[in-house]
Amino acid sequence: MKELRGKDILSSFDFDRETLEHLFEEAETLRKKLSTTHLKIADSKTMATVFLEPSTRTKMSFQMAMLKLGGSVIDFQPESSSLQKGESDLDTMKIIDGYSPDIIVLRQSKPFFPHSIKEEIAAPIINGGDGTNEHPTQALLDVYTIWRELKRVDGLRLGIMGDLKYGRTAPSLSYMLTFFKDVKIYYIAPKELRLREEVKEKIRNKISFVEVERLEDIEEELDALYVTRLQKERFKDPSEYERLKSSYVVNLEALNKLKRIPIIMHPLPRVWELPQEVDSLPQAKYFEQAKNGMYVRAALIKEILGI
Ligand code: CP
Repeated sequence: MKELRGKDILSSFDFDRETLEHLFEEAETLRKKLSTTHLKIADSKTMATVFLEPSTRTKMSFQMAMLKLGGSVIDFQPESSSLQKGESDLDTMKIIDGYSPDIIVLRQSKPFFPHSIKEEIAAPIINGGDGTNEHPTQALLDVYTIWRELKRVDGLRLGIMGDLKYGRTAPSLSYMLTFFKDVKIYYIAPKELRLREEVKEKIRNKISFVEVERLEDIEEELDALYVTRLQKERFKDPSEYERLKSSYVVNLEALNKLKRIPIIMHPLPRVWELPQEVDSLPQAKYFEQAKNGMYVRAALIKEILGI
């Protein structure tokens, strides 16, 4: 198992199978305790949340997890900060780090930004999303959800659908699944939104995968379908976004054509690609998935703080 105490978490490759299974078991224990009470194990510890791109789930679940463990949270507010006076992101991080937080959760739009500054920052950095590159703790809650729902990860047949070009959750989830046995991923996307070559390069020979354009192109029964949003904010050409907007929608009609409806997952937020009509299916797990994030992130905080 990997020692996570004091470590940065920048990529899904920073874990291994044993560490993941330990975190999932720990998340189960914390779920029982934290649903009824707050703990005091992180008192005198502080987390700084620095989100330079919008977030609801990642920021709130990390903050709630830290508070429920008995720690404190200081939240950086970019819109009222000296970033508005032209201060750089690096200087901002150095200043926050100088106040000695025990963990910094950072979201930033530039791929590999946390990797580029880690030597200058003393506090452990958790990558809360670096542009199109990675979102490792999203993968953590995604695999935790699969582990809870299916009671296994080995042998998984997973469809990952949507914007695989600009989305960061598909790469991180794919990297994390390389730690398990006999997993097969079907990447479902219009050709303009296919998985980036650099991502395929990192999983080739480690995991079995197939690329298709439509859900109906998959002959095998899926255990889970992971739907993702078209990343509007990353499109340079708005007309390209408008053109691709209707290229995939997972509605009841599409799901009812499948031999067996798999569990439906989504990192959220969703827009038009997963209509509310799907929410009533027992296979719809995306709200549970978001909730799982708080428990598994609490387990990760506990490990990094060594408490
Ligand atoms: N899934 C996810 O990262 O959501 P937020 O952008 O709301 O944090």
